[in-house]
Amino acid sequence: MIEIPALMGLRMINDGSVSLLSTRFEEKTNVCTLSWQTPLSQDPPMVGFSLAPSSRSHDFLRQTGEFVLSIPDASLIAETHFCGTHTGKIVDKIRLMELRTMRARRVSPLLITNCIGHLEGVVRSWQPIGDRVFYTGEVLTALVEPDCFDAGWKDQAQTLHHLGGDLYRTAGGTLHAGKFPLPMSRTPQAGLFDNPREERFL
Ligand SMILES: Cc1cc2nc3c(=O)[nH]c(=O)nc-3n(C[C@H](O)[C@H](O)[C@H](O)COP(=O)(O)O)c2cc1C
Repeated sequence: MIEIPALMGLRMINDGSVSLLSTRFEEKTNVCTLSWQTPLSQDPPMVGFSLAPSSRSHDFLRQTGEFVLSIPDASLIAETHFCGTHTGKIVDKIRLMELRTMRARRVSPLLITNCIGHLEGVVRSWQPIGDRVFYTGEVLTALVEPDCFDAGWKDQAQTLHHLGGDLYRTAGGTLHAGKFPLPMSRTPQAGLFDNPREERFL
C-alpha cells in the first residue's frame, strides 16, 4: 500500500465504484457498504456521501467525525454485499467477515486491508436530504495498492458497481477518450476554450 496525493485519490471514486465506509467509536470499528458517494472539491480534496440516519455508521460518524472509504474489488463481493445488508448494531461485521484491518495514518477508523484503495477523511458538514444525511468530508490521506492504481484504476482493478438489489457490475476495461477524436464538424473553433481549469478536470 502506498500513499498518493489526496487529490489524485479522488479518482478512486470517480468511476462510481462501491465503497466500504469504516467508522470507529469507543474502540469499535464498523463497516458498511456505500454506493452513493462522490468527489465534491479539488482544493481542498473533498468527498460527499449519503447515509441512512438509522445506520450504525451514522451514529459513529456523529460521535467522531472520522471515516475511511475503502474500495473493494470483485473478490470481496460476498463480504461487500453482507456489509450492505446487515447492520453493525447486531453483528461485528469485521470479525464475522474475517476482514483484515490495520491502523489508518491520520484517523481512528481501521483500514480494511483486503481493499485496493483507501481515502481517510474527516467530516466537514452534514445535512438531512430526504431519508438520508448527506455528509461532506475532507480527504486527508489516500492509499492505494500500486498494482491496481497508477494515476487511475488499472484494468486489473475489478471495482464493483452496484446496479441495485443484489446485482453488481465489475469494471470492464479502460477507454482513453483522447483516442476517440470528435469529427471536425463537432470540434470547437481554436481558442474558444482557453481556461486551463476547464481542460484539466480531475
Ligand atoms: C451495494 C450497496 C450500496 C449501498 N449504498 C448505500 C448508500 O450509499 N447509503 C446508505 O445509506 N446505505 C447504503 N447501503 C445500505 C447500507 O450499507 C446498510 O443499510 C447497512 O446495513 C448499514 O450498516 P450499519 O448499520 O452497520 O452502518 C448500501 C447497500 C448495498 C448492498
